[in-house]
Amino acid sequence: METLKVELGSRSYPILIGAGLLTRPDALRPLVPGRDLLIVSNTTVAPLYLPALADAFPTQRRLEVILPDGEVHKTLANASRLLDVLVSNRFGRDATVIALGGGVVGDLAGFAAACYQRGIAVVQVPTTLLAQVDSAVGGKTAVNHPGGKNLIGAFHQPVAVIADTATLATLPPRELRAGLAEVIKYGLMCDAQFFEWLEQHLEELLAGDPAALAHVVRRSCEIKARIVGKDEREERGDRALLNLGHTFGHAVESATGYRKWLHGEAVGAGLVMAAAMSRELGLVSPEELVRVHTLVERSGLPTRSAGVAPATVLEHMRIDKKVQAGRLRLVLLRRIGNAFMTSDYSEDALERTLQAYCG
Ligand code: NAD
Ligand code: GLY
Repeated sequence: METLKVELGSRSYPILIGAGLLTRPDALRPLVPGRDLLIVSNTTVAPLYLPALADAFPTQRRLEVILPDGEVHKTLANASRLLDVLVSNRFGRDATVIALGGGVVGDLAGFAAACYQRGIAVVQVPTTLLAQVDSAVGGKTAVNHPGGKNLIGAFHQPVAVIADTATLATLPPRELRAGLAEVIKYGLMCDAQFFEWLEQHLEELLAGDPAALAHVVRRSCEIKARIVGKDEREERGDRALLNLGHTFGHAVESATGYRKWLHGEAVGAGLVMAAAMSRELGLVSPEELVRVHTLVERSGLPTRSAGVAPATVLEHMRIDKKVQAGRLRLVLLRRIGNAFMTSDYSEDALERTLQAYCG
């Protein structure tokens, strides 16, 4: 078991990483404050992992809400359902919400915890690779609105993150690959050595090797914890670098009505597009672009967006949250392991990239 820390002064919190943590009451109990617990999970994850988690808290008052599975259920109506349970059971400000599941459960339960009595404790227990390396850490919580994804949300840091890497053994392979896109992102963004490690150990990761998975969860959390500690609310620019590949990816996701690809799959293609545009601008070398393309492809992720016209992707990019003073800011690469954000690029380079990778 390893413990990392997100340093945020009085709101600092630990990230525990290890195989079998859910069967370690001694490790879990000190991290979960309060006598009243609301465990939130979904119909897929609860039968697998909720009994072990619940067993760790035999003396607390414990309620459980099991939501239907899927992104379409990350709604204000379901957050409201959680709030109703908290209110009707007279949970106080010292109660704790435990989110057991992937990013959907984590974002929704975190949002309800952020709202209830202006904020009660939430413990994130992520069970997908994407949630363990990304969404459970950093305090972004949200629900979707019919007008767009994550439009209603709050920053609300957890009091602890418990990443039991043994839970990844039951994850469908497609979900594991989607999580790998975010892992590759960390290497590309700021750690060339980690990128190289991924190139060397990809087969182990794809085969679900526990030691390899534990390594990527730890390294990814170290990077994310450092960035969140420096720029909690994405005000200084550090945290915005985590959007590497996402501006391209989100545009493809929204152009395809969020139905074609998982988020991580869109990020995979987005990473290749960000590297290709950096190449267009004479930043990364041709060899580096090949390395990015190859790693994304070997991970079983898409490397281009077939079937969506470049002009449509461009249109969706222009309504991105990162448009400032009418100019879209992009996260690009100087080289593998060195990302930066800029609005200073030629439109031609962007259009050439989209022509080459979309349609
Ligand atoms: P998800 O929560 O939908 O989980 C993917 C699937 O895997 C679901 O069917 C789930 O039930 C299943 N599952 C989860 N754990 C399992 C396990 N151990 N074994 C078997 N099946 C399991 O998707 P996700 O990729 O984890 O998260 C995506 C969500 O995260 C999106 O809503 C996205 O907006 C959000 N997100 C948030 C942040 C953030 O910073 N808050 C960052 C990235 C993504
Ligand atoms: N997933 C991007 C962030 O947490 O900022």
